[in-house]
Amino acid sequence: MAQGEHFEPFRPMLRSGGARFSRDAAKRPILAFEEVYKSYRQGAPVLRGMSLTIERGEFAFITGSSGSGKSTLLRLLYCGETVDDGRILFLGRDVARLRHDAIPFLRRNLGIVFQDFKLVPSWTAYENVAIALEVLGLSRRLVRARVGEALERVGLGGRGEDLAGVFSGGEKQRIAIARAIVGEPALILADEPTGNLDPQLAIDMLGLFEEIHESGATVLFATHDRTLLEARSRRVVVLDEGKAIDVPQGIATDEYETHLPH
Ligand SMILES: Nc1ncnc2c1ncn2[C@@H]1O[C@H](COP(=O)(O)OP(=O)(O)OP(=O)(O)O)[C@@H](O)[C@H]1O
Ligand SMILES: [Mg+2]
Repeated sequence: MAQGEHFEPFRPMLRSGGARFSRDAAKRPILAFEEVYKSYRQGAPVLRGMSLTIERGEFAFITGSSGSGKSTLLRLLYCGETVDDGRILFLGRDVARLRHDAIPFLRRNLGIVFQDFKLVPSWTAYENVAIALEVLGLSRRLVRARVGEALERVGLGGRGEDLAGVFSGGEKQRIAIARAIVGEPALILADEPTGNLDPQLAIDMLGLFEEIHESGATVLFATHDRTLLEARSRRVVVLDEGKAIDVPQGIATDEYETHLPH
């Protein structure tokens, strides 16, 4: 990147649903992994020339057995880990070659939900969600309105003043989802968001992600939970031997049985 060049595509894109970037970028897929390699230890590569394209507005499951690299794939995307080789084009920028000081701008365009919620238990639900907006320097009034709206969307309207620590597991995940969506990021990443929830809550949570998707977000949902994968007919991408393989829609999963998590 040229000295002094602004990181236009990664400016916060409030209320724009991810539309505020160059026209060129708007025509391209929102996300493309191109021949990505990653290993943590020599001789044990996790991703081995992995390529994957996600279109704007898609909802895709990423699956694969434990250790296949689902979390790694997501971590590379939000710069929680560095790429060994290849490109990760997100909103027209190569995340793998991002300057360190551009990472916060990248992350403003991502909403991330983890299995273990990552809430601050001694903060209120409101504070846990508001933190995602406070870094953007919005007025307090706007923050209050947006956080209230996000908590409503996840079914926790009126619970904003309760401490996060007192909520049930399912409710905690709803707070985490509110925090992920409150900045209206271009892409929502979820890493086993239902891993700590019982099966019925897991399905409810999937429904919530689907509502968010229907309102315009692109969603990348990593899970090894076959009940979720089979609950809907959605794009399923399997990580196997360091590569991403699409499970074709409408084909019995038997053929791909060996790739799918057990
Ligand atoms: N920080 C790290 N240092 C060393 N090895 C790591 C690190 N993170 C992940 N690994 C290894 O990389 C491989 C892929 O891990 P990753 O967490 O991406 O898998 P996963 O598909 O998310 O698995 P799970 O379904 O269990 O969450 C595993 O073999 C793991 O042990
Ligand atoms: Mg994982």
